[in-house]
Amino acid sequence: MISRKNEPVWAGQIHRLDTVGSTNTVARELARQGAPHGTVVLAQQQTGGRGRLGRSFSSPRGLGIYCSVVLRYEVPPQALFLLTPVMAEAARRAVVQATGLEPQVKWINDLVLEGRKLCGILTELGMTGDRLDHVVVGIGINCNQQADDFPPQLRSVAISLAQALGHPVDRSQVEEALLTQVRAAAEEFLLAPRNWMEPYRAHCITIGKDVQLIRGEEVRLAHVDDMDEQGALLVTLADGTRETVFSGEVSVRGLYGYL
Ligand code: BTN
Repeated sequence: MISRKNEPVWAGQIHRLDTVGSTNTVARELARQGAPHGTVVLAQQQTGGRGRLGRSFSSPRGLGIYCSVVLRYEVPPQALFLLTPVMAEAARRAVVQATGLEPQVKWINDLVLEGRKLCGILTELGMTGDRLDHVVVGIGINCNQQADDFPPQLRSVAISLAQALGHPVDRSQVEEALLTQVRAAAEEFLLAPRNWMEPYRAHCITIGKDVQLIRGEEVRLAHVDDMDEQGALLVTLADGTRETVFSGEVSVRGLYGYL
């Protein structure tokens, strides 16, 4: 374990690694070996960065932040439903704090700038039988990528902080802001999730949009009316029926693209 002197947050529990498959996988292994609440894994590069619904997350060397945090809460797994949006709000605040940019949120786990994806969050539960043992929250932020650093299929849908600002960012500043906000969110989310969910909702561009709800092969058109206190979307389907959509296996896409 390598830890910097005068580490600002979660001192002594930050693992700084060079190349990993996925920081979430490393964090899960550490958690299984008993790593405490607040253990952080950061990598320079991921060769198998993972996203929701079996997608990959492009993680070129030295250009993004690839971060996973082990959290331990003595609650039933369903009490963690708000963790992903709360962490999205933590990442959003970190970007505002470190760069002055104002990302929006695409439900449920993406931050967007200029209509393109800046950041993704992958939350994975570690269960012992039906009891929650730990949860790993993985956060990836595109920092200094230029178009050529993204795979061709992502170039029109992904963006980095440097692209939005027009100059490179100091990744260590973004990282420090991220860890500070993630720690605050981890401490507060069971007691005061509203402090995070209200701004999340205010910045959520999915509300009020016509979208496709994609579950496996099934695609349904819907209008997003609102988001409830559980972070679920309240939608009206094309035939007029209303439904509550939890994140689970559903992907939400705009009618004409990523948003
Ligand atoms: C998504 O886009 O659906 C979520 C992307 C999450 C990416 C981060 S990068 C750090 C951590 N390690 C991973 O393999 N994934 C998450």
